[in-house]
Amino acid sequence: MFETEQNAIAAQIQQYCTENDIPAPQEFQWKPIPFSGGWGISTSFFQVAAQEARSGKKVVVPQRAQEIAQSVAKQLGTPRGFERVEAVNGYLNLYFAASDVSRRVVDSVLETGANFGRGVKKNERVMVEYAQPNTHHSFHIGHYRNAILGEALARMVEFAGYDTIRASYPGDIGLGVITVVWAYDKFYKGQEPQDIHVRGQWLLNLYVEATNLLTPKENETPEEIAQREVYEAERRDLYRRWDAGDEYVRNLWLETREWSLEELRDILHLMDIDIDVWFYESEVDEPSKAIVEELVEKGIADDERSQDGAVIVKIDEKLGLKKEKYRTNVILRNDGTSLYLTKDLALAKDKFEKYHVDRSLYVVDVRQSLHFQQAFKILELWGYEQAKKCYHLGYGFVSLPEGAMSARRGRVVLFKDVADEATRRVLEESRKKNPDMPEEQRQEVALQIGLGALAYAMLSVDNNKDIIFDINEALSFEGHTGPYIQNAHVRASSILRKAGMIPEEASFDYPMEAHEIELIETISRFPEVVQQAAEEYRPLVLATYAYDLAAAFHSFYHVVPVLQTKSETVRQARIRLIAAAKQTIANALRLLGIRSPEVM
Ligand code: ARG
Repeated sequence: MFETEQNAIAAQIQQYCTENDIPAPQEFQWKPIPFSGGWGISTSFFQVAAQEARSGKKVVVPQRAQEIAQSVAKQLGTPRGFERVEAVNGYLNLYFAASDVSRRVVDSVLETGANFGRGVKKNERVMVEYAQPNTHHSFHIGHYRNAILGEALARMVEFAGYDTIRASYPGDIGLGVITVVWAYDKFYKGQEPQDIHVRGQWLLNLYVEATNLLTPKENETPEEIAQREVYEAERRDLYRRWDAGDEYVRNLWLETREWSLEELRDILHLMDIDIDVWFYESEVDEPSKAIVEELVEKGIADDERSQDGAVIVKIDEKLGLKKEKYRTNVILRNDGTSLYLTKDLALAKDKFEKYHVDRSLYVVDVRQSLHFQQAFKILELWGYEQAKKCYHLGYGFVSLPEGAMSARRGRVVLFKDVADEATRRVLEESRKKNPDMPEEQRQEVALQIGLGALAYAMLSVDNNKDIIFDINEALSFEGHTGPYIQNAHVRASSILRKAGMIPEEASFDYPMEAHEIELIETISRFPEVVQQAAEEYRPLVLATYAYDLAAAFHSFYHVVPVLQTKSETVRQARIRLIAAAKQTIANALRLLGIRSPEVM
């Protein structure tokens, strides 16, 4: 926000140092001075003094630092846009002229609107892969965490200035999928529910039942064992036929796959997620086999098939590592089938070559972290520059206060159920609190708040941490919740409606109150927060900021009079400030995939 001023001052200090034979650093480290009645930036001269000491000058470092700070302060006088310059304990502190800064911050928000905080265009293309659950399965809240995390990440990097592509990669083939297709074909064909929205969930039940039939149990009778073995053989045969392209099996598979995809698209639509590129695991199966040949030719993979082995990559050995780190990986089984890892190599190649991706992000749960380290290392051995810019964003589990989920045992919490419940509760509350709201609007707002509560509950926890999701907590209007932040937006909207019009301009040249300055300062931090969150791949940074901003707004709202102030100048300035706060809250929430209602 204050880069122009910083750079101008830095240039002046550089010049002063050169003229006075002081070893100035290449770049000054500026720190914001935390608000304490005024605000500004600060830099120290300890390193400069230490540098002099090292070069043989007889100086006592702290004293010399203070001496330089003093002489620089004297030289600078009071630069434009600043109120005061002081030298304290070797530090140079520059305080901004508060009214100037305030006006500039507020003006810039209102001028740029939805673009306030957007970073300059960077010459780099990022692909974010997320929302890629396995098909033939339902969408539980763990998948939801993945989807909202990926979407927030995509919105952040895009807003930070990167050319961004959203990709999905559903796992549409594998033993799990085949298991469901087998059970459907054998026991349930034609019995699928009429309502297409529950077919995904229905498939999950088949999976549970089929897994049960195929799993060895204690004290099985010989007949039971024989039966299980027949089933197992049927399943294996089905997989073989799929592999061979058998039309009957392929059609069955495609039809059931579509049920899951339909449900997935529905949910993504509800979440306002628009995927640009759909990759499918099944589609990289063939290409992945071709890659194996290439890797063998290049000496990256070893073909041990002739000795009854597989094609493997000894990653550690090829990297020249002495200790075991990435281990040895099979990339083609002896029977010629490829693996999850192999498919990821083919997928990455596609991302790099077809989509010209420079930086490739994968939002996948932490359990797959070794898998991705291995894949990225093989890509590196293969010679892909972009391998260094592949990043696995691993995230933790979601469980409920009553315990963990387990798909195998059919104990999962479906996202749809949680979303419905959240919305239902908001509706109920709204009917009590605001009986006059038109029903259509009520429904719309309830959905925004219900979903906002869920999204914030997921994003306000750091990526790698597990979440115990508590719906009561998430829906609370107090504390670190979505509704608390949305409520700040609603209050700002309501004052602005009462004010009628937002003044075209306003001056902050009056003694501002502490809450007022704090709100402005928080708003001014937004552009940096966006960059930080995007560089660190951490929506949490933004989630925390959104809370701080809402808290600053609520404090301001409770303490500082706006429409009641006597002075017209002050009134106008504060109305503009509220409009700026409202805009910044909306921008921050939008990056988290959360809507900002005008009323609630
Ligand atoms: N479908 C996989 C799963 O549900 C996640 C895919 C992750 N992405 C990848 N490129 N391997 O576990």
